[in-house]
Amino acid sequence: MTKASDKELAQLEAVKQKCLTCTKCELGKTKTNTVFSAGIPNHKMMLIGEAPGFYEDQKGEPFVGKAGQLLDKILASVGFSRQEHLYICNTLKCRPPENRDPLPEEKEACREYLDAQIEILKPKIILLCGRVAVQSMLNTNQGISKIRGKWFEGPNFSKMMPIYHPSYLLRNDSREKGSPKWQMWQDIQEIKKVYDQMD
Ligand code: URA
Repeated sequence: MTKASDKELAQLEAVKQKCLTCTKCELGKTKTNTVFSAGIPNHKMMLIGEAPGFYEDQKGEPFVGKAGQLLDKILASVGFSRQEHLYICNTLKCRPPENRDPLPEEKEACREYLDAQIEILKPKIILLCGRVAVQSMLNTNQGISKIRGKWFEGPNFSKMMPIYHPSYLLRNDSREKGSPKWQMWQDIQEIKKVYDQMD
């Protein structure tokens, strides 16, 4: 795993500082904290989620609520951790009130920060976690259940895979063969295989 260089870390920090005082959309007025990223800045793997929820907004860190705990378990099932293997960010850096869906103008306003994160790190693997991330990165209207687990070409010749959002898995608890949780298990193993093949 190639960690980001000091120069790239400084570039990310500059983008973060800009994001902290962003007034491009209304969400800056209602947020508690900007939620820029978590995990390790590296060139190998990035996960893009939707937007901060209540706990993320309180803490200023992505995926720290129930969904985040499940995400950590899924990652840990193949030996991945945010401390060592991936950089985590969201499509939106500020929480939409009551966790409503991001508005098109909010996604548009926030896009420069996500694009900068991708451009600075140029990750080889990008995991698109849930519908909002998929719609931001892939030009498709196909539902996530149709395209999860498939690889798509992403920015800088990266490999992007749509995966279920852990909030969805929390609402669909079955582990039976063919269930979303079972499919997630297949997908994380495929991701691990490709991760291990890359250096
Ligand atoms: N859901 C997301 O998509 N991102 C978070 O940071 C938390 C919950």
